[in-house]
Amino acid sequence: MGEDRSGAGPEGSLRALKPPPDRLYGRGRGHKLRPRQEHLLDVTLPRLAFAPEQAANPLAAFSPQPRALWLEVGSGGGEHALAQVTAHPDVGLIACEVFDNGICSLLSRLVPEGGEATAKLPGNLRLWTDDARTLLRLLPEGCLDRLFLLFPDPWPKARHAKRRFVHPALLPLLARLLRPGAEWRIASDDPTYQAWVTEVMGAQALFDARAPTAPRPDDWPPTRYEAKALREGRTPRYWTFLRR
Ligand SMILES: C[S@@+](CC[C@H](N)C(=O)[O-])C[C@H]1O[C@@H](n2cnc3c(N)ncnc32)[C@H](O)[C@@H]1O
Repeated sequence: MGEDRSGAGPEGSLRALKPPPDRLYGRGRGHKLRPRQEHLLDVTLPRLAFAPEQAANPLAAFSPQPRALWLEVGSGGGEHALAQVTAHPDVGLIACEVFDNGICSLLSRLVPEGGEATAKLPGNLRLWTDDARTLLRLLPEGCLDRLFLLFPDPWPKARHAKRRFVHPALLPLLARLLRPGAEWRIASDDPTYQAWVTEVMGAQALFDARAPTAPRPDDWPPTRYEAKALREGRTPRYWTFLRR
């Protein structure tokens, strides 16, 4: 018999769910980095990095100071984050990503070869390259106007359900950070994760759900994982939850 991929269901899987592990599963680094990638991490990343000391007053980390703060968990190659900071110059966005190749991909879109130390960078973008949950624990109450979780690692096996970012134990922290009325956008192409979001978010009272949509809403830039899902014939779902 195959591994149980459900992890969700009316028979009470949430009650048996273990707390989220503190360590982060998945890869921090893929194939060996090329010299240009090493240079981007050494020279360009520090120019954009969001430091833990800035968490107490996050808007002050941007220049000029934005009117609102958005945060993306698992920004991957940065397509969505870059589209958002371009479309919303008055908003500050913190893109959180631990995977070096993804961070380099975002940085390489921002600076031409040779411009690593000098090219102008968006004043409304900052990068957090550690576990996003560490930053979330440092940020002050009600500081977030929008949170993005786009195509998170699905961890489809039931025994790995505790590793999923959408986890009942993390919801109070997210609710503390999102001001009332703020949006939490989630997308997933994985049927197990789709059922999981429906189950976990259906069992909480901190967020109101808007009806999930497919296709993607217009003001929601595409990502690399979405493109892969569509190429491979999967149907992503897009949710918006509003902090009560
Ligand atoms: C499946 S990829 C999706 C990337 C991107 N959102 C997209 O749609 O193309 C999920 C990403 O989340 C990152 N990730 C997972 N957990 C994270 C965490 N706790 N903090 C920061 N990044 C995380 C992974 O490194 C990975 O790059």
